[in-house]
Amino acid sequence: MTRALSAILVTGGAGYIGSAIVRRLAAAGHEPAVLDLQPCGGDLVAGAPCMQGDVRSAADVMAALHTFNPQTVIHVAGIKSVAESMAYPARYFATNTAGTLTVLNAMAASGARSFVFSSSAAVYGARAASPIGEDAPTRPENPYGDSKLQAERMLPWFAQAHGLRYFALRYFNAAGASPDGRFGENWDAAVNLIPVAMRGTVRGTPMSVFGDDWPTADGTAIRDYIHVDDLADGHLAAVEALEAGAASGVLNLGTGIGASVHDVLTAIERVAGRAVPVSMVDRRPGDPAAVWANAGRAQEVLGWEARRNLDDIIADAWRFYAANGQP
Ligand code: WQD
Repeated sequence: MTRALSAILVTGGAGYIGSAIVRRLAAAGHEPAVLDLQPCGGDLVAGAPCMQGDVRSAADVMAALHTFNPQTVIHVAGIKSVAESMAYPARYFATNTAGTLTVLNAMAASGARSFVFSSSAAVYGARAASPIGEDAPTRPENPYGDSKLQAERMLPWFAQAHGLRYFALRYFNAAGASPDGRFGENWDAAVNLIPVAMRGTVRGTPMSVFGDDWPTADGTAIRDYIHVDDLADGHLAAVEALEAGAASGVLNLGTGIGASVHDVLTAIERVAGRAVPVSMVDRRPGDPAAVWANAGRAQEVLGWEARRNLDDIIADAWRFYAANGQP
């Protein structure tokens, strides 16, 4: 069955960020469809049609484009652990870079001409001075960030050769959960600060804080934590801008506000009503002291800005874990 050309294919659409994007697209009246490695369906993807498949497989991607006949592809499918990428770089270039090439090739052979790419602030590397604007030097310091940058670098060539228009969206630190407590990140698989700290708080197992001797006000490292639903809003705005004829571009998706590890732990303690058990350990190799976005260009180009703050992120994440029995 072929679907109307207005369909939007979301690769990785059953994942933490991808499914938030799918639900937001459906709520806005679009027709999302999903290609994901994991079985998917039901409420997670707002009832959107879903095909199980691998973006590293040209056959799987072509089957999804033929079935759903999308005008736009939002390419979220990928892997994102910095530490894992240092140990297994091949996996990151195979999935994040070659997987993106597979999707772009399939689009060139189909009718899809709008592309929204899930990129990362990791392309800037640890030496970038915050607030980081899109014109900052891109000097990734791990295979994860480099795999995303290499994928970005293909986009102008596909635009020139095949008439593709795109936005590469550089996420800062994605966090939070749906306010209704139904959808969020599985903390068992998580290595990022907020799910790890919440898991430790609930289980009473101390989490490691990687350094309290950073050149920051409280000695702990600073990041730009952006709510997953703000990321979803940003993707909706990018899709609709492309549909309206916007020129291609690269945009940061961040709040423009930095929060330290201490700020995050204090916010969790306020919500949880108890201390986060921590053990102070050495800095993690490759960690930068402070990373936050200059998010002004996304506001200018898309009319988008993050609307949720750190307390919203922590409240929603805590509600999700409480509601889903993970505590
Ligand atoms: C945040 C802060 C840690 C865990 C992520 C990922 C990836 C990418 C960029 C999008 C740092 C500290 C963490 C812990 C800690 N996003 N921390 N103890 O390193 O900023 O990178 O964002 O592509 O998701 O690369 O995120 O959550 O690992 O760390 O002290 O157990 O929390 O040192 O200061 P990071 P993170």
